[in-house]
Formats: sequence, structure tokens, C-alpha cells
Amino acid sequence: MRLAAAELLETREILPGQWIQAYHAPELATGSRAGQFVHVRTGDYSGLVLRRPFSLNTADPATGVVSIHFRVIGRGTEWFTRLRPGDAIDMLGPLGRPFEVDPRSRHLLLVAGGLGMAGVRMLADEAIRGGRQVTLLFGAASAREVYPSNLLPDEVEYVVATDDGSLGHHGFVTELVPAYEAWADQAFACGPSPMLAALAGLAAGRGRRMGVATLGRKRGAGRADPTGSPAARRKAFLQVSMEQNMGCAVGACLGCVVMTTEGTPQRVCREGPVFAAEEIAWEAGW
Ligand SMILES: Cc1cc2nc3c(=O)[nH]c(=O)nc-3n(C[C@H](O)[C@H](O)[C@H](O)COP(=O)(O)OP(=O)(O)OC[C@H]3O[C@@H](n4cnc5c(N)ncnc54)[C@H](O)[C@@H]3O)c2cc1C
Ligand code: FES
Repeated sequence: MRLAAAELLETREILPGQWIQAYHAPELATGSRAGQFVHVRTGDYSGLVLRRPFSLNTADPATGVVSIHFRVIGRGTEWFTRLRPGDAIDMLGPLGRPFEVDPRSRHLLLVAGGLGMAGVRMLADEAIRGGRQVTLLFGAASAREVYPSNLLPDEVEYVVATDDGSLGHHGFVTELVPAYEAWADQAFACGPSPMLAALAGLAAGRGRRMGVATLGRKRGAGRADPTGSPAARRKAFLQVSMEQNMGCAVGACLGCVVMTTEGTPQRVCREGPVFAAEEIAWEAGW
């Protein structure tokens, strides 16, 4: 984790109220991994004290450029839209624990709901660089909010669901998942909590439904890795990126905890934001 200078290179509204901003921040572009986030300070004239957390949407070590993708919902996010190329801000990061991909996984299923795209977008880049196949299922309320396909790598299979049926599958993005269960070696998701909870339910029943398809698969059987360790998460079928309101983002204020099935509070900013789905006590309504 470091405090890195970031110079705005490009800012554009890709959808109504949703922006992508590219920053030259070589210290962050090198060594950041998909699933991690930055904590960004707004300028003095914003009147805001707390930094704002954003997923690293992309990070390119070759050019030193990182990007964030955000929706304007309050004063902080509105402040960012007023920045112009050449403006400098500072970013604290990379923070949090990344997605863990099993080296044996060839087929990755990414599931994003709305702004959850920002949470999984960088994983698509990493996976393709690693020679993996990626299918990305994306859910939005309507066609007006569908992430543009031209902002994704060409290699990604992109499947859209809209609540009102105005584009793609008519219904929730979770309804698309069963068709990919047998194909996917692992799944990674970011989006609204009800979506993540529904996916966790599907993943929990997957072993039963897969039947013989799981025969011959051996995910580190025989040795129990400690819950929450990178090794344990790497073996999970589904990993989720959680978003909680944050204060410090460095583990000190306990403002971001979620509860695990073992009854242990976990800080989203330190032990997360990525968790194995089976770690989280979903019935608590996170
Ligand atoms: C690890 C992490 C990664 C994130 N990544 C992204 C991202 O990539 N893109 C993006 O658009 N947003 C992301 N968020 C959410 C983003 O940080 C908030 O939208 C932002 O801080 C709001 O700031 P604001 O000053 O505009 O709004 P505020 O004035 O602070 O808040 C406006 C309203 O939004 C609510 N709110 C604020 N933060 C959150 C939150 N985290 N979850 C739910 N409701 C919230 C507030 O309660 C309030 O009602 C992420 C959050 C976390 C914890
Ligand atoms: S935001 Fe302070 S502990 Fe996570």
C-alpha cells in the first residue's frame, strides 16, 4: 500500500451518471491485482474529510495507467466529475485482498450487477493475459444502463440481462448462471448484496447438481487451508467482492465489517473486499 500521485489523463461519461477516469499513476499500475481498490482523496474545496473507495477498474503496468469507473451518487463522486485532464489527486492503494484464481482454472465466469462491473473488469484483463476463457454475465435495470461492450476486451463473451427486458435476457442476471455452471471452473462476482446472496445460494447447491461432472476434479483435497487464506479462497468456486460503507479503509475503525458463518467479524477493507462466498453469513443481510 502506498500514497500515489495520480494525474488525470481522460475523463468521460460512459452512461448517464457513470464515469470512467484514467489516471497516470505508475506506482499503482504496477503490482495491483484485480479485486483491489484505491482510497481517493477529494480536493480541499470539496469540503469532504473522508476519502472515497473505488475498485481498480483497470491497471496497465506498461503505460502506468489505472482507471476507475464510478456512479455519481453524492458530493464526493460529483466532485470527481469536475476534474480535468492534467489535474492531480492522490490515491491510497492498492488496498484489500484480490481475487484468487486457481492456476488450474481455464474457464472463468464473471458476474456483475450494475456498478459491480468495476469490481470484476480488471479480472477479465488478467484472465485473458493468462490465456483463460472469460464469460461475463452482466445485469442492469434497463438497456440505458448496460455497460458498453466496446469497453471490454474482444476475447470476452459478454451476456446481458435486463430487468425490464429492453436488452438481452429478460430477468435477473442470476437466471443466466445455471447455463454456465458446468462450463465454469470458478466464478467471481460483484454487485448488489441480494445478487451476491443469490449467487452464493446457487454456488452452495452446485456440487449436488453437477453430479458426475465433478468426478476427476481434485481441488486440493486432503489438506484444509485456513478459512479466508488465499489458498482456501483459490479453491472456492465462487468469490464475491463486497462493498460496505467505509471510513478509514486501512482496518482501524471497524466501520466496514461483515460477519462470517463462523461468527467472526471481517473487515471488508482488510480481509476483503473479496471473500469466498461460503465465508459470508448471508442470512445476516449484508
Ligand atoms: C471496496 C469498495 C469499492 C468501491 N468501488 C466502487 C466503484 O468502483 N465504483 C463506484 O461507483 N462506487 C464504488 N464504491 C462505492 C463508492 O465508494 C461510493 O459510491 C462513494 O464513496 C460515494 O461517495 P459520495 O461522496 O459521492 O456519496 P456520499 O455522499 O458519501 O453518499 C451518498 C449516498 O450513498 C450511500 N453510500 C455511500 N457509499 C456507499 C457504499 N459503499 N455502498 C452503499 N451505499 C453507499 C450513502 O449512504 C448515501 O446515502 C466502492 C465502495 C467500496 C467499499
Ligand atoms: S473502513 Fe475502517 S476498518 Fe474498514
